[in-house]
Amino acid sequence: MHKKDYFPDSEDQHIEIDASPANRTSPKKLWGGAFSEGPDEDLNRLNASLPFDQKLVLEDIEGSMAHATMLGAQGIIPREEAEAMVTELKRMHAEAQAGKLVLDLADEDIHMNIERELIRRLGPVGGKLHTARSRNDQVALDMHLYVKRQSARMIEFVRETVSALIALSEAHIDTVMPGYTHLKRAQPVSLAHHLLAYGWMLERDKKRFEAAYRAADRSPLGAGALSGTTFPINPAQTAALLGLAETYPNSMDAVSNRDFVLDFMYAATVTMIHLSRLSEEIILWASDEFQFVTLPDAYATGSSMMPQKKNPDLFELIRGKSGRVTGHLMGLLMVMKGLPLTYNKDLQEDKEGLFDTVETLEAIFLVLPKALRGLVFHRERMRDAVRESYALATELADFLAQKGVPFREAHHIVGGLVKRAMAEGKRLDALSEEIYREAHPLFTDEVYSLLDPETAIRRRMSAGGTGRTSIETQLAALKSALQLSDRN
Ligand code: ARG
Repeated sequence: MHKKDYFPDSEDQHIEIDASPANRTSPKKLWGGAFSEGPDEDLNRLNASLPFDQKLVLEDIEGSMAHATMLGAQGIIPREEAEAMVTELKRMHAEAQAGKLVLDLADEDIHMNIERELIRRLGPVGGKLHTARSRNDQVALDMHLYVKRQSARMIEFVRETVSALIALSEAHIDTVMPGYTHLKRAQPVSLAHHLLAYGWMLERDKKRFEAAYRAADRSPLGAGALSGTTFPINPAQTAALLGLAETYPNSMDAVSNRDFVLDFMYAATVTMIHLSRLSEEIILWASDEFQFVTLPDAYATGSSMMPQKKNPDLFELIRGKSGRVTGHLMGLLMVMKGLPLTYNKDLQEDKEGLFDTVETLEAIFLVLPKALRGLVFHRERMRDAVRESYALATELADFLAQKGVPFREAHHIVGGLVKRAMAEGKRLDALSEEIYREAHPLFTDEVYSLLDPETAIRRRMSAGGTGRTSIETQLAALKSALQLSDRN
């Protein structure tokens, strides 16, 4: 069977749950042989992961299809029986994709559920599926498949967001704004330069998701419960059938490794931190105090009480949700810390935080690029914010330094001019030529042409600076790093 057969477009995973009381109170266990009484009802509830690991239904069935195929190919079970299982599993996969596979909540987890359903449909032959396999390598496999798939999606989401930032940047190469340090107007920059800083952060996020993708691109199947198996399995075949690049050299590592989940969650966390910083800036820029930007109506919200309000809820939510995504990463790190080898039920705690991380990023990425493209920046207002400030003072110090005055001395002289201008309530370009010459004989009327935001930006031609050439270089480099076409 070709690996494509295992990965039909499995994007949506809507599953109907049979949560009827009858189902909830009739636990069906596949492991009760050595037990003389069934588990306590409350323990059952605590122990069960089906309410959340049903998200892995497609991955679980895909893993079983590959495993059954390998069992048949290796002669571990008769080939016809393997084929019968694969055929039925394929049917279940299609049903799950269509949201029609009914999961019985009485089962402990998705693995038990799928196996029991297969046995119900095929009879005792279905009971051969779990030959040479444990839920320990099975759940590890499901998680690898899930993280690999989600990493690929996140890379796409990141690309779409960068694409929106690039479109905005291209429209705003000549938009001047104050660049800030300590949230004080420092030096003028191009808005494109400011936005592209976020583009580069996201470019690194893409690399982090690629690293998570590679870490998840490995099959733990064949590790069994922890030590391997007595059956003549072929782990490389199951890996190949699932499109996974490698297998694990050590079965104990295979069942207890969750590094790839941490890698994904770290990538997600850093991404959220970047989006949170961007959101904070947009919130500030949209404030009545800044008025640098107006949010598109479709991506702003109103107040139930104050009719004049247009609120940046979207960006506040991104800022707020960065906390829970970070929390999920911390949570899993704490689960892993101090875990002895190999499988421990603690590992079941790897799921809810991961799923919530995926859902949170997905919800944000579905809306953020559209909202960014709709931002309306107020060029005059941003330019005035430069002109009304002393953000061009560095130009004057650089002027003297270029003429040979030690920069430290130049800095001091211009500091005096700023002090004087502030005391007189004037801008730097309102000080007379005499005042400049008094401050230093090397000052000429050339200073006035330097006290212009556009000129200040144009003259910053250093690599990576805010000058036009650097911005154009950045746009080309970012597009090529993200494999984005020239048209945005
Ligand atoms: N639901 C379990 C998990 O998510 C599956 C593995 C159970 N294995 C076991 N030995 N109890 O981790």
